Order: sequence, then C-alpha cells, then structure tokens
Amino acid sequence: MKTYLVSGGAGFIGSNFVLKCRERAVARIINLDKLTYAGNLQNLAGLHNDPDHVFIHGDIADDALVRNLFEKYAPDAVINFAAESHVDRSIVSPEDFIQTNVVGTFRLLQAALDYWRGRSGGKSQTRHSFSDGAGSASFLFLHISTDEVYGSLGQDDPPFKESTPYAPNSPYAASKAASDHLVRAYHHTYGLPAIVTNCSNNYGPRQFPEKLIPLIILNGLKGEQMPVYGDGQNIRDWLFVDDHCDALLRVLERGRPGEIYNIGGDCERKNIDIVRDICAILDDLLPDSPRRPHASLIAFVKDRPGHDRRYAMDCAKIKRELAWAPSETLESGLLKTVQWYLANPEWVESVQSGEYRRWIEINYENRR
Ligand code: NAD
Ligand code: DAU
Repeated sequence: MKTYLVSGGAGFIGSNFVLKCRERAVARIINLDKLTYAGNLQNLAGLHNDPDHVFIHGDIADDALVRNLFEKYAPDAVINFAAESHVDRSIVSPEDFIQTNVVGTFRLLQAALDYWRGRSGGKSQTRHSFSDGAGSASFLFLHISTDEVYGSLGQDDPPFKESTPYAPNSPYAASKAASDHLVRAYHHTYGLPAIVTNCSNNYGPRQFPEKLIPLIILNGLKGEQMPVYGDGQNIRDWLFVDDHCDALLRVLERGRPGEIYNIGGDCERKNIDIVRDICAILDDLLPDSPRRPHASLIAFVKDRPGHDRRYAMDCAKIKRELAWAPSETLESGLLKTVQWYLANPEWVESVQSGEYRRWIEINYENRR
C-alpha cells in the first residue's frame, strides 16, 4: 500500500479526501494539520481505530517537523490541502494567508525536494522522465488550488482554462496564486514531480459554516438572517466535495507531473438562487418548522470588497485525459448536504464556538 502525506486533512476537503482514501484502502495516510479554527478532529472520528491513519498536530511551515515526517514515513506522495481558505478572512487579516499559503507551501516544497532527491538516489530526474503519468513516478507533490487564481469573468466570457493567465483579486487568491507559482517553479527548475489542481467552489458535509452554503443552512435552522452579499447575482461553479476527491484520486493515479488540471462542476449558479434552493429544501425537510418559509430570512447586505463576479471552469482536459466527470447534480448534492447538517447537531454545536461567534460578529457587523 502507498503512503500519502496529507496536509490540512482535518479541514473540509482534506477530511473528506482522507476518509475516502481509507474507506477504499487507497493508501496509508499521514495527516499533518495545525488544527486552526477550520481544522476539526471530529471530522476524522470514523478513523479513530484505524492503524493506517496517523494524525500529526503541526504546521506545514515547521521545517524540522516536516523533514522528520518525510524521513520517518517515506511518503509516495504529498497532497497539500493545508491553507487559510476563507476570502472574507483574508480581507480582514491577510497575514496568516501569506504565512501558511505562501511560506508554508514553500517549506513543504523544499523539504519534499530534498526528500525526493534522496529517494531517487541523488539523480535529479528531469520532468520528462515522468511523462507516463503519476502512477509511474517515484514521488508526486499534488498541490490543491482554486479557480480564484484566474480572477473574475464577465457574463459572456468563456470559462477558465488551464492556460488562462492568473489575475488573483483577493489576498486569499493572491496567496494561492503565489503558492501555485512556487510549485510550478520547483517542477520546472528542479524537476520535482508536481501537479497543481485548480478547483471551483466545493460544498458538502463537514464544511465550516463561515462559507456560504453551510452558513445559510445553519442560519435557516436557527431562524437567523441569511446574509446575501451585494445584489446576489455573483456566480460560482459548484462541485460536491466527493466529486472533487474522486478527481484528485484520478490525478494521483494518472495525472502527468508538470501539468495543471482544472476541476469544476459544470454548474454555474447565482448566489441568490443557491440560497433560495436551500430555503426550499429546508421547507420540505422541516414541514413543522416555525421558520417556514425560510426564504423570509434572506437579507441583502453590504457587498464583499473586490467581490469577484463570476467563476466558471472549463474541465475538458481532466475529462479527456483522466476520464473524470462529476457524478452529483446540484439538486442531489444540496439535499445530501442539508441532510448531513440536520443529522449532525453535535458537530454543528462544536464548531460554533467562541471563535466562530467572534468571526460572525466581525464579518457581519459592518454589513447591516
Ligand atoms: P479548510 O479551511 O476547511 O481546511 C484547511 C485545513 O488546513 C484545516 O484543517 C486547517 O487546520 C489546516 N491548516 C491551516 N493552516 C495550516 C498549517 N499552517 N499547517 C497545517 N495545517 C494547516 O479548507 P478547505 O475548504 O478544505 O480547502 C482545502 C484546500 O482546497 C485549500 O488549499 C483551498 O485553497 C483549496 N480549495 C478549496 C475550495 C473550497 O471550495 N473549499 C475550492 C478549491 C480549492
Ligand atoms: O472558488 C473556489 C473558492 O471557493 C475556494 O478557493 C475558497 O477556499 C472557498 O472559500 C470559496 O470561495 P468563495 O468566496 O467563492 O466562497 P464563499 O462560500 O465565501 O462565498 C460564495 C459566494 O457567496 C461568494 O460570491 C460570496 C457570497 N457570500 C458569502 C458569504 C459567506 C454571501 O453572499 N454571503 C455570505 O455570508
């Protein structure tokens, strides 16, 4: 069995990925996570007795720790999910984003490079040696990135391709763009077998309720205002988290080092429509709720500064080369998501801690 060093595996996408890897016995997982406000060991509760899941509490920017993990566990791949991930937080306080997303990724890359060089017997193979696909490479650094690095689309623009020039607009997007460039440079300059995936908006179980979909679901359950930024006409391309994880497994098996793969849901929706869909699901699932109709909770609030208008991904490359396609529709995925939040009140309770309440106050206080 392979060994994967997964960073950020206690967060939303990382934990869904780790659970899937273990369920399918794809790899032994060494899970390095700093457990910031967004990391939650409850996400990994199902792995409590799994000897092939090793959790390490630590920072990707901790050079000594990371080097020790490479030496001790000799991973076949690194999958770098660890990041500060929320755009609004990056606008309020960008520094953590530079530290983790840029400096942290740099440290992880440098340690991976030294490890890979040692592993390949000091021979610095060129990127051309790895053109048969990741499955045949001796090591892979898979960096998980975002569609936000490409900037914002106009209404009639074609979706982002892998060749679209980077134009990040928020401090979050800029920090992710910087990390993508570092990964590219380590491949180009040193031959480190590396792949960057850029994915659109994920949703599904275990997403921290600072993000639109879980925030709207939980505010609906509490009977609190559902804040929609600006005119609610901003468009995102939504992908169910399980489909993203399947795409990543496909990339690990068959992706070509040195390549970028866009991943998306072919599912552009206006924010206001997503919010109305959630309201309709809540109305259906909770026929006796005093909050019905949940849409009465919708409130348009002050916009996000620099708010990107539209994202959309052209996923032709991953579909063609790796035979991946999303399997969940937005309708079925949203229903599963709402059902998950209804079925997991302890999880919901535990993440809405003092830190969460503080953030909600900071972010929404000046939007009324
Ligand atoms: P998240 O905020 O839910 O989880 C991030 C995880 O990283 C947390 O467990 C946190 O504790 C951990 N972490 C943060 N700083 C760390 C550090 N210095 N060292 C080790 N661990 C650290 O994020 P997510 O939504 O699961 O996103 C995961 C990755 O996918 C990110 O890189 C993000 O940019 C990218 N991405 C997210 C989306 C999305 O819609 N959520 C879409 C595309 C790409
Ligand atoms: O596109 C991929 C990105 O998607 C990821 O890289 C990020 O990590 C992830 O956070 C997400 O970024 P967004 O900014 O698109 O997601 P968020 O859920 O914060 O917002 C989605 C849309 O909803 C966006 O247009 C802003 C809007 N919004 C958000 C919140 C939190 C609201 O209208 N009200 C809200 O309260």
